[in-house]
Amino acid sequence: MITDIELMDRARGVAELAYSPYSSAKVGCALVTEAGRIYLGCNVENASYGLTMCAERVAVGRAVAEEGAGMRWVRAAVVALGLEFPPCGACRQVLAEFAMAESRVIFLSQGELVSMGMSELLPAGFAPADLNG
Ligand code: THU
Repeated sequence: MITDIELMDRARGVAELAYSPYSSAKVGCALVTEAGRIYLGCNVENASYGLTMCAERVAVGRAVAEEGAGMRWVRAAVVALGLEFPPCGACRQVLAEFAMAESRVIFLSQGELVSMGMSELLPAGFAPADLNG
């Protein structure tokens, strides 16, 4: 099983590929799915700034495109080169859509590796189950 440190390294690797001429932030995300596969995403910015895709959402999209609607992720590493980034609010919501009870997001905070579950990252969040009455 890939370690947290190795997963952070994968996220760091894909962050190098970011397209971020506007913010210069290079962000990477590495997801491990329930199926045991790893998917990578980097941020992809746009001249129409609001169309920017964050690294986490690119990784989730790639994972769904490979594994289908039943894709569930168990661990997600988020890295911003030279910075420290927790996932933004939009990405928390998208990660929550495909999370399991045990899913954890890892990122750096003040030089330390932090690991948080979705209920900690998105307390009282809107969830797919809320649509089912
Ligand atoms: N960004 C991500 O890729 N993930 C996040 O969770 C936060 C922000 C990107 C978007 C933009 O390209 C740059 O970081 C600065 O906001």
